[in-house]
Amino acid sequence: MKIFVDSANVDTIETLVPLRIVDGVTTNPSLLAKEPGDPHETLARICRAVGGPVSAEVVATDAEGMVAEGRRLASIDEHVVVKVPFGKAGVQACAALAGDGIRVNVTLVFSPAQALLAAKVGAAFVSPFVGRLDDVATDGMDLVSRSVEIYENYHFETEVLVASVRGPAHVVEAARMGADVCTCPPKVIDMLFNHPLTDIGLAKFLADWEKAQVVSV
Ligand code: G3P
Repeated sequence: MKIFVDSANVDTIETLVPLRIVDGVTTNPSLLAKEPGDPHETLARICRAVGGPVSAEVVATDAEGMVAEGRRLASIDEHVVVKVPFGKAGVQACAALAGDGIRVNVTLVFSPAQALLAAKVGAAFVSPFVGRLDDVATDGMDLVSRSVEIYENYHFETEVLVASVRGPAHVVEAARMGADVCTCPPKVIDMLFNHPLTDIGLAKFLADWEKAQVVSV
């Protein structure tokens, strides 16, 4: 399963890339709005840092505007994947952009029916928002498993990109369900590394080693 970073912070992304576990980045207008400077320049820097797919979202709300904005975003760097919100306008824009050979990530997907429609119009990625479904007492991961099943049934090439991830349990479940990508906030990536027994085990190995050096002197 590919791991993307769900962030628009260039410094954070540059810190994570050397770990060699990051395959791409997802941004959205909320994340980019938190960063200083020109958003297009920020996206260009993220593309250079990660060298993999970087989702950049349109803010137009009509299909024509989304297509025009999507083309501008795609011209920033070959790694840009244009993100469009699900809906009639987003579906139309996705079809047009995919027809131009531009990769599209259909976002704000909350039902298997929406995931099916996004795949039919050639989305490269579809983003089910699992955490926001959990927030309204609905099983977000159930949407992931149904989307994976539907895409397998019809051999759609659209990749299921699990988004709105809140913790390691979402990541592990995504991998067990065969999701293609999980996009994680940086703090969740940190959590994936941590286990108290690893820390305790390492401390004991080092303490035992130190004791042996004292005895042998
Ligand atoms: O990038 C979109 C998505 O991951 C948003 O997550 O935590 O705002 O629901 P969240």
